[in-house]
Amino acid sequence: MNAFLTLQRLRAMLAALLLLALLPRMAPAAVPNKDAVPAYAEEQTILQTEKDVREPGWGTAASGKVHIDRHFLGQYGSSEGNVILQRGGNTWRTLRNGPIATVSGVLLLVVPLLILGFYLTAGPARLAEPESGRSVTRFSSWERTVHWATAISFLVLAFTGLVILFGKKLLLPWMGAEVFSWIAIISKYLHNFVGPLFILCSVLMFFTFLDRNFFNRRDWQWVKAGGGLASHKHVPAGFFNAGEKLWFWGGVTLLGLVMSISGLILDFVTFGQTRFVLQMANFLHLGGATLYMLAAMGHIYMGTLGDPHAYRAMRYGSVDETWAREHHEYWLAERKDTQG
Ligand code: HEM
Repeated sequence: MNAFLTLQRLRAMLAALLLLALLPRMAPAAVPNKDAVPAYAEEQTILQTEKDVREPGWGTAASGKVHIDRHFLGQYGSSEGNVILQRGGNTWRTLRNGPIATVSGVLLLVVPLLILGFYLTAGPARLAEPESGRSVTRFSSWERTVHWATAISFLVLAFTGLVILFGKKLLLPWMGAEVFSWIAIISKYLHNFVGPLFILCSVLMFFTFLDRNFFNRRDWQWVKAGGGLASHKHVPAGFFNAGEKLWFWGGVTLLGLVMSISGLILDFVTFGQTRFVLQMANFLHLGGATLYMLAAMGHIYMGTLGDPHAYRAMRYGSVDETWAREHHEYWLAERKDTQG
C-alpha cells in the first residue's frame, strides 16, 4: 500500500516537473505579449519578419534593448553584426536629418550668395597695365591633368553627396519615387566608386604642388593687404599667394584627409566597424564636406569670375606677362632669374 502511494506520488511529481519544463515554451504562444521581452536577446525576443518590426514589441526594442535576428547572426564581419537596433542610431538620425542638414544647407545657400554680392560690388580682378602679348608658362600639362582630375572627381562627389544628403527631402517630393530612386542609386554608386579615385588624385595633387606651398615671410604682406581682392591694389606674391596656400593646406590637405579617412570608413564597412564608429565617421564626413564645399566655392570663384586670367592659366597652362607681374611678381622675377 505504502509502496503504491509512493509510486503515485512519484508519478505526480514527474508530471508536475514535465509541465514546468514545457510551460515556458507554451507560454509565448498562448499569451503573445511582445512588450514583456527580457533585456537581452533570448529565444522569445527574436524578431524575424518585417511584420514583427512594425508590431508594438518593436517599441520595447527601441528602448535600447538588444535584439537578435537569426538571419543576421554571424553574417557580417562587424563585432555587433547580431544587433539590429542600436539606441545611438536614433540620436544619429535625428542629428543628421535635423540640425546638421539644416546648418549645412543654410551655409551652402548663403555663402554663394555672399560671393555673388562680393562680385557685384568689387567686380573681377583688373589689370592695371595692358596685356603685353608675351606669354609665360605657368602650369605643365601634368600639373593641369592632376588639377582637373581632382576638380572633376570633387565635383562628382559634391553633387552626388548632396543628392544622398538632401535628395529625399528636396527631390523625392518633386520628381516622384520612380525617377528619384534611379538618381539616388546612381549617385550612391558614383559616390562610392569616385571616392577612392579622388583620394588618389588628392595624393598626386599634394606631391605635385607641395614645393610651392610653404609659407614664408612675404605671405604676411599679402594677408595684411587682403590680397588686394577688394581694393584691386597690386600686392606682390610668389608662385602661389597666401590665399592659395591656405586652400592647399586647409582644403586639399586637411579637409582632404578628413574626407578620405571618414569616407573610407563609410565605404568599406566589412572591417568590423561598429555602428558608433560609422555614425561618428558620418558626422565628420558631413562637417568636412560642408567646409570643403564652402572653401571650394571661394576657390572656384577666384579661379573663374573673380580672375579670368587665373582660369586661363589652369586651362591652357600659360598667362600673359603683365598678369604674372601684377599677381605673382616674385615668381616672375625669380623665373626670369632662373631662365638667365
Ligand atoms: C571631398 C569630397 C567629398 C564630398 C564633398 C563628399 C560629400 C558627401 C556627402 C554630402 C555625403 C552624404 C552624407 C549623408 O547623407 O549623411 C557623403 C556620403 C558618403 N561619402 Fe562622401 N564626400 C567626399 C569624399 C568622399 C570620399 C573620398 C569617399 C570615399 C573614399 C566618400 C565616401 C562616402 C560614402 C561611402 C558615403 C555614404 C554613402 C551612402 O550613404 O551610401 N566620400 N559624402
